[in-house]
Amino acid sequence: MKIVLGPASAELGEKIADQTGIEKVPVVYKTFPDGETYVRLDGNIQNEHAVIVQTTSPPQDSRLMQLAFMADAAKRNGAKKVTAVVPYLAYARQDKIFLQGENISIETVASMLHIAGVDALITVNIHADSALAKFPSPAKSISAIPLLAEYFLQKGFKKAFALAPDKGAMHIANEAQRILGGEAGHLEKQRDRYTGQVNVTKKDFNVKGKTAIIFDDIISTGGTIVGAAKILKELGAAKIYAACVHALLIGDAEKRVLDAGVEEIVGTDSVFSLASKVTLAPLISKELKALKSG
Ligand code: R5P
Repeated sequence: MKIVLGPASAELGEKIADQTGIEKVPVVYKTFPDGETYVRLDGNIQNEHAVIVQTTSPPQDSRLMQLAFMADAAKRNGAKKVTAVVPYLAYARQDKIFLQGENISIETVASMLHIAGVDALITVNIHADSALAKFPSPAKSISAIPLLAEYFLQKGFKKAFALAPDKGAMHIANEAQRILGGEAGHLEKQRDRYTGQVNVTKKDFNVKGKTAIIFDDIISTGGTIVGAAKILKELGAAKIYAACVHALLIGDAEKRVLDAGVEEIVGTDSVFSLASKVTLAPLISKELKALKSG
């Protein structure tokens, strides 16, 4: 097995290589003047199981092309198997048709990666597991929520309230709650399919005087967290934190979230941002070690 250091996750790939002792293959890459992508694997991959570590956070499209090109390059250069480790998997939220006339983006992405040479895919906290079924080859999602909950435990937040901003994220809040040892609950969220505007509404639970941590898979524009923080304030939470696996923090999202009264935003290095405080390296290393020995 060799770890191919995808340009979008080279630092994470290096950490994984260090923690597993697996040899790494650097990637030479550039963007041509017209915007086209170029990659070259700078190492021998012949007869190896190539594990390409490459996130697909913005700019999603060029990072997806880099991933497809790296998979193709690995196969053309003799790799016997290609596993893509994609910490943040772009387009996973469009896993079904919501409005007439749409496509299913993740299905197209899955087919493209398969055709390029990806034999298996590992991602982290995919938005919905149903998206994994769109992949023609084996695909799995592993969870970084325990790592995020541990971060807060180490800060001394035992028994903090774990809040999911909507029902769909309740499994995430439950996972955190099992580590934090406090309570968990969820709000209700509606998103306008045309404008993208979110509306978060209250549910009945007691956070008065407590530290509350909002757990979600993604923070994009911050709208969901802002809505949830507003309700937590109304309910009298003492301190509010936001934790997510993929802190995309588009535009002024970070400021909006902090302005809404959130003390700190904590994300992982699936996406590079100021909130990337928790590394996925131990989680992915464990997975690769199991893969190698199994
Ligand atoms: C969608 O339901 C996801 O779980 C997140 O809640 C969503 O992507 C966050 O988006 P935003 O930060 O733009 O509200």
